[in-house]
Amino acid sequence: MQQSDVERIRNDFEQAINEASSLSELELLRIKYLSRNGIITKLFDELKTISSEEKPAFGKLLNTLRSETTELFNTKKSVLETGKTSENHELDLTLPGKTVKLGSKHILSQTLFEIKSIFKGLGFSVYDGPELESDYYNFEALNFPPDHPARDMQDTFFVGEQFVLRTHTTPVQIRIMEKEQPPIRAIMPGRVYRNEAISSRSYCMFHQVDGIYVDTDVSFAELKGTLVSFAKQFYGDGLKYRFRPSFFPFTEPSAEMDITCYICMGKGCRVCKHSGWLEILGCGMVDPNVFKYVNYDSEKYTGYAFGMGIERIAMLKYGIDDIRIFFENDLRFLKQF
Ligand code: DAH
Repeated sequence: MQQSDVERIRNDFEQAINEASSLSELELLRIKYLSRNGIITKLFDELKTISSEEKPAFGKLLNTLRSETTELFNTKKSVLETGKTSENHELDLTLPGKTVKLGSKHILSQTLFEIKSIFKGLGFSVYDGPELESDYYNFEALNFPPDHPARDMQDTFFVGEQFVLRTHTTPVQIRIMEKEQPPIRAIMPGRVYRNEAISSRSYCMFHQVDGIYVDTDVSFAELKGTLVSFAKQFYGDGLKYRFRPSFFPFTEPSAEMDITCYICMGKGCRVCKHSGWLEILGCGMVDPNVFKYVNYDSEKYTGYAFGMGIERIAMLKYGIDDIRIFFENDLRFLKQF
């Protein structure tokens, strides 16, 4: 008995198994090869006649033969019993298809998309600017004098002596006016950063959209008309609004715009601090001092500007009460939009 004999037996067995087309044929093969008196079982008897040096290797060969042939036999048996192979699953055409999960736009992206399309409809173009800003653009050119207390209105992340993570998108107004001559009508969305304690109402990073319109004879009435039109398209027609005097260094006069509190419909509740109103944005007429920084003739041109927090207006629209939830990426939240 040699190794080649073992291989021949294995090949014969495999060929016979492949050719077997019924369980009864298979049973005959089992008896011929694997039963107590089968060819393979009998081979083990020959171990007795083999020298003790060769015995371990030959024993191993026989064991492999037996386990491989048994496995071939079992596989074929189950194929004949069930009519299936691992590659040949029966097709069930009534099963539902596999859905491909596509994901969806984040609620902030959706909100920004809506804001952009409303302002585009009103004739505004969309601009971009850097998130790492110089002190000049973030403060100085916006009429925040050095050491002026107005700088404390916005808690700033300083980067070295001259740079800051921009605290608002308003500096992009300066960048646009430096490059272009009136008339300009632009909005500028983007990320902003504030070094504030994190809470349900404030986060260290959020998003704003600023807007500016400069031309000859731009009036406060136009500012109101544009913002009311925006608010009605964004929040719905039935809404009431008001403008309150306020202060920003880069606008004069300045105002804040409120809409009716959507929770109590103006009766007064915790969310609106019992005023019946919710602030949605800041705005005003561009301060002539700002025009000086960009070499616009303030005798010739006037302009209005406004700025709003995207999280804030989305929170008001959808009744979201914690700003942190926008950045947690919890699918239970994201899937609601
Ligand atoms: N930059 C202001 C802020 O972050 C918001 C703002 C107010 C922007 C009035 C403007 C504006 O362009 O005219 O609080």
